Amino acid sequence: MSPSALLVVERLSKHFGAFQALDGLSLKLASGEILGLVGPNGSGKTTAINVISGVYTADAGTIHFDGQPVGGLPIHRRAHLGINRTFQVPKPFKGLTVSENLEIAAVYSGAGRDEIGKCLEFLELAPLAGREAASLNSAQQKRLDLARALIARPRLLLVDELAAGLNPAELQRMAQTLMTIASSGVALLVVEHLLSFLRELTSRVVVMDAGREIFEGPLDVAARDPQVIDIFLGG
Ligand SMILES: Nc1ncnc2c1ncn2[C@@H]1O[C@H](COP(=O)(O)OP(=O)(O)OP(=O)(O)O)[C@@H](O)[C@H]1O
Ligand SMILES: [Mg+2]
Repeated sequence: MSPSALLVVERLSKHFGAFQALDGLSLKLASGEILGLVGPNGSGKTTAINVISGVYTADAGTIHFDGQPVGGLPIHRRAHLGINRTFQVPKPFKGLTVSENLEIAAVYSGAGRDEIGKCLEFLELAPLAGREAASLNSAQQKRLDLARALIARPRLLLVDELAAGLNPAELQRMAQTLMTIASSGVALLVVEHLLSFLRELTSRVVVMDAGREIFEGPLDVAARDPQVIDIFLGG
């Protein structure tokens, strides 16, 4: 195992009934690094995030975080160690305000008022602090979801399709935000369909198909790889 890797995932498998959603996925990620995770619909990207964050337990394979096996730990233990994630479809407490949503999440880290205030500023949510989460548009809900994950002070942040539905200006700012988070030392796994957005963030990607890695390396090389082209264009 590489001593510099914060996250080491080896040969993860997960099935749902007869369907093999993960089929031997391996990847490594260092602190401060951004790794893109791409693949067609249904290739297992969200399942990978669910298994690494503890929503599901893998059928086989290992997950080491900071040298420690975490694959058997429940979600809240992994969150305490520093693993957090966003959701492909954000799930805020809709009847609570933006601030209140962060106050609840802050229970995990002990973050106080100052830190919540800074987090709201950082995610451009300060003007919306008193608004009910249900009244936010989708871009604002994505920023709230990211704020909720950040207030738990993650060392590993798993990001599931934050770019979907953002306009070009919002995309630019979201890319900046993610790069600022990584530059503070957080390891980022970024699941994304929008390759132009991913290209702003990182050159290193893992491409998945049918629950396994079919490519690992620079995004530009992936874009010329015959197997990658084949799965995205459907043969
Ligand atoms: N809880 C579950 N029960 C049954 N099947 C599931 C479950 N979660 C995921 N799957 C199936 O596993 C496969 C992989 O799903 P997953 O959500 O990981 O794909 P994805 O790569 O994130 O796709 P997308 O790009 O559409 O978000 C899909 O066929 C999905 O229907
Ligand atoms: Mg998904």
